[in-house]
This record gives sequence, C-alpha cells and structure tokens, in this order.
Amino acid sequence: MQIEVLSENEEMTKSIAEKYAKSITSRAVISLVGDLGAGKTTFAKGFAKGLGITDLVTSPTFTIMNDYKSGRLNLYHFDMYRLSSKEEAEELGFGEYFDLRTLDGVCLVEWAENVKGLLPALHVEITITKVDETKRKIGFSVKGWVK
Ligand SMILES: Nc1ncnc2c1ncn2[C@@H]1O[C@H](COP(=O)(O)OP(=O)(O)OP(=O)(O)O)[C@@H](O)[C@H]1O
Ligand SMILES: [Mg+2]
Repeated sequence: MQIEVLSENEEMTKSIAEKYAKSITSRAVISLVGDLGAGKTTFAKGFAKGLGITDLVTSPTFTIMNDYKSGRLNLYHFDMYRLSSKEEAEELGFGEYFDLRTLDGVCLVEWAENVKGLLPALHVEITITKVDETKRKIGFSVKGWVK
C-alpha cells in the first residue's frame, strides 16, 4: 500500500504530519527515510503537534532518542544517524522500544537503515524526497502486513 502527497513547503510538511498523527490510535513504529535535510525532523515536529505534544521538538542527533510524554500517545523520536548496526542500538538499550508487544507509544525513526533488522516487520515507512528547495514528495507505505 503506497500513498504519495506533494508538500509545497515546510509548513505543509508539518501540517501533513500533524494530520497523520491525529489518525494514529495505538502503538506504531514509523521510519522516516530521506537524505540529509530532506525534512525528517521537520515531519517529526508536525507529528508531535498532532499527538498534542507542546514541548519543543529538536533533533535527537546527539541523544539518539528524545521522548515526549505529554501527548495523547508517548512519542519516541530516534535519529540513528551515528549508529551502524542493530547490535549497537541494542547495546545502548534501545531494543525494547521496537517490540510491538510492549511498546507504549509511537516510535518515529530517522536513519533506520543504519540499524537494519531492529524495526519490527510491521511498520510504516515514510519517504521524503527533495523535488526542489521547497517542495518534497512524501510517500507513505505499510511494510510487513502482507507477504
Ligand atoms: N517542503 C519542505 N518540507 C520539509 N522541510 C523543508 C521543506 N522545504 C524546505 N525545507 C527545509 O529543509 C530542511 C529540512 O531539515 P530537517 O532537519 O527536517 O531534515 P532531516 O531530514 O531531518 O535531516 P537530517 O538527516 O540531517 O536529520 C529545513 O531547513 C527546512 O526548512
Ligand atoms: Mg533530522
């Protein structure tokens, strides 16, 4: 299943993310795929707003994960840019967040491709592609629900 939308600017990316977050009713793992500066963290900011989170959302580049617990669902925002394997993420204690039986919120993961195999088979993949300086193609695809 694949849905694609065109974002005309940063605000629109946030608004698409906000609306999407409002549609989420339960635990979920979502990966954000796209080049440096594509708009993954921008998407995360709008997404957090859609969950009712009012805290300032910043990139977890150095912390790897920032959690936000003031919204309708807990949000765990990861940036795996500095990691290089699933094992490394597990050693840092992040493995438990990716077990759908025990996850108590939503994981939003930038650079999940660096920790291959860590995410559960069932997850949503959001791909952000630069069209030009301000336009982005945003694709939504559900992974792992049908073989
Ligand atoms: N339509 C758009 N959607 C999102 N961001 C946009 C858009 N147009 C321009 N931008 C700009 O692109 C940049 C996106 O930065 P952002 O930090 O969200 O990227 P990122 O994908 O998280 O990068 P990184 O891989 O370094 O974490 C911002 O400077 C933002 O203003
Ligand atoms: Mg980012």
